[in-house]
Amino acid sequence: MPSCARKLASRSSRTSATGAPLPRQSAPCTRTPSSSPGASGFWDSTWSAIRNTVVPLYQPARLAGLVPVMQSYVGTLVANIAGCPDQHCIPFCQLSLRMAIDIIGKTAFGVEFGLSKNSPGGSETDCGEGDDDVREFLKEYKLSMEFIKMDLSSSLSTILGLFLPCVQTPCRRLLRRVPGTADYKMAENERRLCRRIDAIIASRRRDRAAHRRGGDAAPSPPLDFIAALLDAMENGGGANKDFALEDRHVRALAYEHLIAGTKTTAFTLSSVVYLVSCHPGVEEKLLREVDGFAPRGRSPDADELQSRFPYLDQVIKEAMRFHLVSPLIARQTSESVEIGGYVLPKGAYVWLAPGVLARDAAQFPDPEEFRPERFAPEAEEERARHPYAHIPFGVGPRACIGHKFALQQVKLAVVELYRRYVFRHSAAMESPIQFDFDLVLAFRHGVKLRAIRRASPTESG
Ligand code: HEM
Repeated sequence: MPSCARKLASRSSRTSATGAPLPRQSAPCTRTPSSSPGASGFWDSTWSAIRNTVVPLYQPARLAGLVPVMQSYVGTLVANIAGCPDQHCIPFCQLSLRMAIDIIGKTAFGVEFGLSKNSPGGSETDCGEGDDDVREFLKEYKLSMEFIKMDLSSSLSTILGLFLPCVQTPCRRLLRRVPGTADYKMAENERRLCRRIDAIIASRRRDRAAHRRGGDAAPSPPLDFIAALLDAMENGGGANKDFALEDRHVRALAYEHLIAGTKTTAFTLSSVVYLVSCHPGVEEKLLREVDGFAPRGRSPDADELQSRFPYLDQVIKEAMRFHLVSPLIARQTSESVEIGGYVLPKGAYVWLAPGVLARDAAQFPDPEEFRPERFAPEAEEERARHPYAHIPFGVGPRACIGHKFALQQVKLAVVELYRRYVFRHSAAMESPIQFDFDLVLAFRHGVKLRAIRRASPTESG
């Protein structure tokens, strides 16, 4: 029930999707507090101090400044589709994941991963031009994502966490020291990935120092997420003066962004395109809106993305309801609370299932139908719906911090893609489509599409 979700979110601050007791079972960036190299590993007060430092980085003005960066990677995505050797089988999930990782690379790390440049149709870890460091980095990223599975092929400690959350932490501590166990391999991989992130941070520090020494003559260091955190460190903690931001916090945040902000966004974009391509009525309305915006050469800015694409908003909301990226969110109660007639003692582990809420016929009539209009502001269904019935980004104080960032990226990509193409399912794609439950929901065999170039009467660039 949505009202239970509301109560749970507000009365259980201790863990979240990011600090879940059952690490491979919940939403993006989920790890146990004891093992996570991400910010998820920090609990209540440290977590809220870190979050307060980070929140300003997601303010609208800052996000608006990221539009050109996002736009350039969206342009590469479009070019990769055009350059795909088989226009009848575009590996859309891979291409959109490459774009999402590159965008996080640039906006969070200030680093050009170069994953999507010149690489149509390659595998997710193949970075085209053969930069060994980037290749290794991405291999570790991929492993990190794979370790976080949602089935019984996971590590022993994860499976234990499913049934006996209270023994999971001590068990994991032990298993991480036993070579050959999945926990050990996971820990090794995380250590390698963290060392790489540390190296990026150290190199950014050196660049900043060089910039200061060089005065105006030196090129300005980029204004990415790590730069903003280093600024906050140098200025004594940023927004929160009682909290000293340390290197390990910066590393944790960078790690979390890489894990939380990539597969989720790529899945959402793939899901939108997959669903639109099998709903001609939706496609027609979407094309009308996209074409009505402006000639192709002019990209929307952040304000226009917000205000000029109301139908696209509905399509994205409905796609996120239909294929819920993170079907479970974890919490641990920070005080005793009564929810739906059950008393949950302090410290209880609780799972929220937004995926179940999203298919509740009382909130979404004909829930198996893909119908974006159900989210139109004037729709009776929308007005009657409980505000917590649709929570793809979570709820409460630990809700997704990057949701506006993600939506800005997905909207930009949809606008640019549909200006040039419409898509149909490739004959090579299975039907019905199959899913994997990793850290987040994933298309098991990807989304394979036929790209059909659109005629362009209004094209100006
Ligand atoms: C469509 C894309 C995305 C979806 C569906 C999504 C979903 C979620 C969900 C469900 C949570 C858990 C919320 C809760 O516990 O109530 C979460 C947390 C989080 N997400 Fe996202 N996310 C997306 C994109 C992003 C992006 C792009 C970033 C970063 C740029 C990001 C960063 C985070 C972080 C840092 C947290 C942890 C927040 C905290 O514990 O304080 N996410 N996300």
